[in-house]
Amino acid sequence: MSRRLLVTHALPYANGPLHLGHMLGYIQSDIWARAQRMAGNEVVYVCADDAHGTPIMLAAEKAGMTPEAFIEPIRAGHEADFAAFGVGFDHYHSTHSPENRELSALIYTRLRDGGYIARRDIQQLFDPEKQMFLPDRYIKGTCPVCGTPDQYGDNCENCGATYAPTELLDPYSVVSGATPVLKDSEHYFFELSKFESLLRDWFDGKLTGGRPVANAGVVAKLREWLDGGLKDWDISRDAPYFGFPIPDAPGKYFYVWLDAPVGYLASFKALCDKTGLVFDDFLAPGSQAEMHHFIGKDIINFHGLFWPAMLHGAQLRTPTALHVNGYLTVNGAKMSKSRGTFIQARTYIDAGLHPEYLRYYFATMLDDAPVDVDLDLKAFEERVNSHLVGKWVNIASRTAGFVHKFFDGHLAGQFGPEEQALWNALLEHYDGVARLYRDGDFAGVARRFVLMADLVNGHIAAKAPWTMAKDEARREELHQVCSFAIAAFRLLAGLLKPILPATVAAAETFLDAPIADFDDARAELHHHTLNAFEPLLGRVDAKRIEAMVEASKASLGAPVAEAPAKPPKETRKTMSDTAAPTQPAETDAPATIGIDDFARLDLRVGKVLACEFVDGSDKLLRFELDAGPLGTRQIFSGIRAAYGEPDKLVGRNVVFIANLAPRKMRFGLSEGMILSAGEGGADLFLLDADQGAQPGATVR
Ligand code: MSP
Ligand code: ZN
Repeated sequence: MSRRLLVTHALPYANGPLHLGHMLGYIQSDIWARAQRMAGNEVVYVCADDAHGTPIMLAAEKAGMTPEAFIEPIRAGHEADFAAFGVGFDHYHSTHSPENRELSALIYTRLRDGGYIARRDIQQLFDPEKQMFLPDRYIKGTCPVCGTPDQYGDNCENCGATYAPTELLDPYSVVSGATPVLKDSEHYFFELSKFESLLRDWFDGKLTGGRPVANAGVVAKLREWLDGGLKDWDISRDAPYFGFPIPDAPGKYFYVWLDAPVGYLASFKALCDKTGLVFDDFLAPGSQAEMHHFIGKDIINFHGLFWPAMLHGAQLRTPTALHVNGYLTVNGAKMSKSRGTFIQARTYIDAGLHPEYLRYYFATMLDDAPVDVDLDLKAFEERVNSHLVGKWVNIASRTAGFVHKFFDGHLAGQFGPEEQALWNALLEHYDGVARLYRDGDFAGVARRFVLMADLVNGHIAAKAPWTMAKDEARREELHQVCSFAIAAFRLLAGLLKPILPATVAAAETFLDAPIADFDDARAELHHHTLNAFEPLLGRVDAKRIEAMVEASKASLGAPVAEAPAKPPKETRKTMSDTAAPTQPAETDAPATIGIDDFARLDLRVGKVLACEFVDGSDKLLRFELDAGPLGTRQIFSGIRAAYGEPDKLVGRNVVFIANLAPRKMRFGLSEGMILSAGEGGADLFLLDADQGAQPGATVR
C-alpha cells in the first residue's frame, strides 16, 4: 500500500557555508526519500534556511549588512551545494518568510489560548553599551574556580567547571567589551511539563500505531530527560533580535528555536500553495500521512520534547519518526582546520571529486543508529574505486562492447540455464533491499550490493567472455553471458539509484531502459537494444583528495562555525576494505611526502604465530603475529588468493603497520595491516625481513 510521507531535514543556519559534516545528514535523508519513492510511496521532501537568532544578527552587523541582505546569498549558496550533491528537496524555503511568520504566530496563539504559555520576570546579563541582553556564549570572564581568564559564560575549558555566567569574575561582553550588568526582563515560557503524558505516549509509539518514533537509543535518551523532570522553556527574546515579534508582546521576539521547526511546515505550506498538495492532509491531527524528521544528534531535545508538544498543543499532528545522524569525523578525528579536514561542501566539489563518491561512502557507513561516522579519506578512495568502479561499472564496461560488436547492441532472448539460476539468486538478495532502505540500514544495502556484484563478477570471470569472443563457435554462449551481465548491471543500478541518482541516470541512458522503481529494475531485458556505453564513473583521483585537503587548509580564515567541541563517542569504523581486491592506482607518480609523514607510520616486524583461512571469506587470511614488546596482534589480510597454504607462513617474518586504527570486521578485530607487494588477487607477495630481525622491531 502506498504511503504519503512528509520528510524534512534539520534547517542549516544561514550564517556560513555547509561543510561535509552537514552533508552527512542531508545525503542520508535524500537517500531515504528517494528510496521511499522507489518503493512506490508518495514523498514530499522539504527544507529551508534557519535565518533567525543572535549570531546571524551580529554577523550581519559585522558585515555591514541588514540581516535580510546577509542571509540571502547564504541561502543561495546552500541551495547550490545541495543541488551539487544531488540533495533534491521538493521545496527549499527560509524561516524568514511570510508563511513562517503566520504559522509561528498561529501555533503560539493556540498554545497561549490553550493555557500553555506563562510569563515571568527573569534576571539576565545585559550589555549596557550595546543595549542588548547577552546569551551565555557572548559573555566571557575569569573562571570562578581556577582563575583562568577568558572563559565562556557556562563552563571553563581549563578546569571543566560549569557555572552560571553571573558567577564569572571580571565578566565582559564579547560583543562590545563592556562589563555586563544584571537586568530584569519579562520572558514567555512554554510549559512543557503539561505535556508529560503526551510525550510518554509518543515515546511508547502509542501515537504512531505502535511504530517506534526513533532508534531505541534515542528514545532511551528522551525518556531519561523526561524522567529528570521537564522545565518550562524560555521562548522569548528581547529586542534587538532578528526574528518574528510575538503578536501580543511589544519588544519581544520568538526565540529562534521556536520558529525554526515551524519552518518545516512553512516550507511545506509554500509548496502546497504552488501545487495541489493540501496542508491539512498531512498536518491535521489523526492524519494518515507520515511526518519524518531527519536531524543531527545535537538537536534531539528540540525535536523529541518541545516539538511534539508544540504540535500537539497547537492541535496539529505529532511526528511519525525522528531519524538521527551522528557527527562526522575525518581521518578518525574531529574535523580540523589546521589539518585541512574541516572541508566545505564547495571545496569538495571544486576539487573535482564526484559528489556521488561521497554519497556512496556515506551510505556504506550509515544505519539508523546516531553514532559518529568517520570519513577516512584513504578508505573513501579505495572503497569507491573497488565497489563502484571495480564491482559495478566494470560489469557493463567488460560486456557492453561485445554486445555492440557482435550483436548490434541487441540482448539475447532468454538467459541460459546457469544464468537463470544465478538471476533467481540475485533477485532473492535484491528483494530485501527496499526494507533495508526503509529501516535506514544503508550499510546493509551496500553489503547486499557487494555480495550481488561479486556473484555477477564471479560468473563473468568464470565464463571469460573475452576468451569466448575469440571463438566464432561460441557466439551464442557469449551472447547469453553478456546479456545476463547487462541485466544484472541494471538490477544493481536499481539498488543503487537512491544513492547515485545522477550516475544511475546515465546508466539508464546507456541501457535505454529507465528504472521507474525497485520493481521495475527486476526486468530481464530480453530482446532489448542498448545505446552506446559511455564510461559512467571514473576512479577517484587521489591527487584531487590531496588538493581538497590543501584547499581546506588554505581557507582557514573562512567564516564557518566550528562543530561543537564534543569528543566523538562511538566512531563507526570503516567497512572491511582489506577484503576488497586492491586495484592498480590510476595516478602514475605519488606526490612527494616529508620524512615526518613517513614517521607517522609505525612499521614493525611481526613473526607469524598462526595463519589460517577465515570461514565465510574467500579473500581473507587470519594472522596472529608475535609483535615483541607490542604483544600479539590479530590481523586479517586480503591475500588468500595468493597464499593457498596459510600454515606454511607460520614462522615467517612479515612487515605490518602497527598504529593503524583497529578495525572491527565481521570475523573479529583486525589490529593492523600486513604489507605486501603486487596488484592484488593472486599477484601479492608478502614482504620479508632477513634472519635476525626481532619480532616488534621497528622498520625505518
Ligand atoms: N538550525 C539548526 C537546526 C534547526 S532544525 C529546526 C541547526 N543548524 S546547523 O547548521 O547547526 O546544523 C544543521 C544540521 O547539520 C543539524 O542536523 C546538525 O546536527 C547537522 N550537523 C552540523 N554539524 C555536523 C557534523 N559535524 N556532523 C554531522 N552533522 C552535523 O542545528
Ligand atoms: Zn576553571
